[in-house]
Amino acid sequence: MPSLIKMKDGRAITPPDPEIPFIAGDGIGPEIWLAARRVFDAAVAACGKKRRVAWLESFAGQAALKARGHTLPGETLDVIRSHAVAIKGPIGTPVGSGFTSVNVALRKIFDLYACVRPQKWIPGVPAPVPDPSKIDFVLFRENLEDVYAGIEWSSKSAEAGYVRNFLRTEFHIDLPDDSGIGIKPMSEAITKRFVRRALRFALDRRRRSVTFVHKGNIMKFTEGAFRTWGYEVGRMEFGKRTVTEGEVREGASAKGKVVLKDRIADAMFQEVILKPGEHDVIVCPNLNGDYLSDACAALVGGLGMAPGANIGDQAAIFEATHGTAPDIAGKDLGNPSGLILSGAMMFEFLGWEDVAARIRGAVEGTVLAGTVTGDLARGRKDVTQVGTQKFGELVAAGAGKA
Ligand code: NAI
Repeated sequence: MPSLIKMKDGRAITPPDPEIPFIAGDGIGPEIWLAARRVFDAAVAACGKKRRVAWLESFAGQAALKARGHTLPGETLDVIRSHAVAIKGPIGTPVGSGFTSVNVALRKIFDLYACVRPQKWIPGVPAPVPDPSKIDFVLFRENLEDVYAGIEWSSKSAEAGYVRNFLRTEFHIDLPDDSGIGIKPMSEAITKRFVRRALRFALDRRRRSVTFVHKGNIMKFTEGAFRTWGYEVGRMEFGKRTVTEGEVREGASAKGKVVLKDRIADAMFQEVILKPGEHDVIVCPNLNGDYLSDACAALVGGLGMAPGANIGDQAAIFEATHGTAPDIAGKDLGNPSGLILSGAMMFEFLGWEDVAARIRGAVEGTVLAGTVTGDLARGRKDVTQVGTQKFGELVAAGAGKA
């Protein structure tokens, strides 16, 4: 019988034979999962006979809707709850319908407050900037608040009418009668818990700096407060090991410390392109993080290469940054690297750094050898384009090498 992973203080306690649930997902999900699983099994097997992973299939999204009549069945939630760590493929959310996002629901139910998305360039991957080797970001996106809190009413709803009326009578704020209404909550406790995790990560991994990204010039009491609370955590809880960019400018030493800085979101989009070497760990509210992480993923080769994790104190779910890619689903065209590298993050989280290193090394080796999926080939003559499964086989062979 395989054993269960436990979480203590936000960290995993991993038995040698964990059972890990997976959700293959919608669109290209089942294809990339098949390729990724092969890689994970090869890497674990190559790291010694004492460790083994038993994969447990769980359902969410369209497959669950067909089989169980619900996109997020209770039994899937029970499995994630009891197993603490899971890995998933993408799940679709139709735009503008009444369909609630399964991804957003999972983050809320399991209190997965930090979305972590590393963006590091792999040699051989085509990139749109002259020197992508300078890009080595780890982007932390707050996962529960901001406009993702789901407080939104359509322009014709009674609720929107009520809120418009309330604003008119109580605050003399006149909104057009055909306005839809959305609310953007950002709270001190949830922001600080999130920033604390990002700062701990930066300190544990000896990263150089942490940049808070906000639009506080316009949204002073949400995004502006995010910046203020970020610096407060840095000063009050990690004061001996952090220094602000302003203090460094005035002559303070940054030696052995993490430098805290902040940037307005629009300027940050320019800086990650023009001055990528100036940023390291990037800490964003939910919506900024959503936009910026896709833009940063493009700088290192596109969505197909971008891994991610949603982490809380009781559970963690690992998944690629990209969506279901409906335009290429079922055609053996998807790049499984995002999911494969999410698996590497998962094994690192479990404390199996050797497995993670094998997986990363094998992806790098395969790409460097000039074998890539269509999203990276882009008509180039110096590479060989292969399908999803062939790419998975090659990476698995690399990960399993003695
Ligand atoms: P998308 O990421 O699915 O696709 C955007 C573009 O990138 C498409 O041209 C697609 O072919 C390409 N692409 C994405 N992943 C790729 C891969 N692994 N290899 C090669 N090319 C890849 O974003 P889109 O079209 O906005 O969303 C489609 C659906 O996915 C929506 O229903 C959305 O809600 C959902 N979605 C789910 C996510 C999740 O489960 N975590 C995250 C993002 C979107």
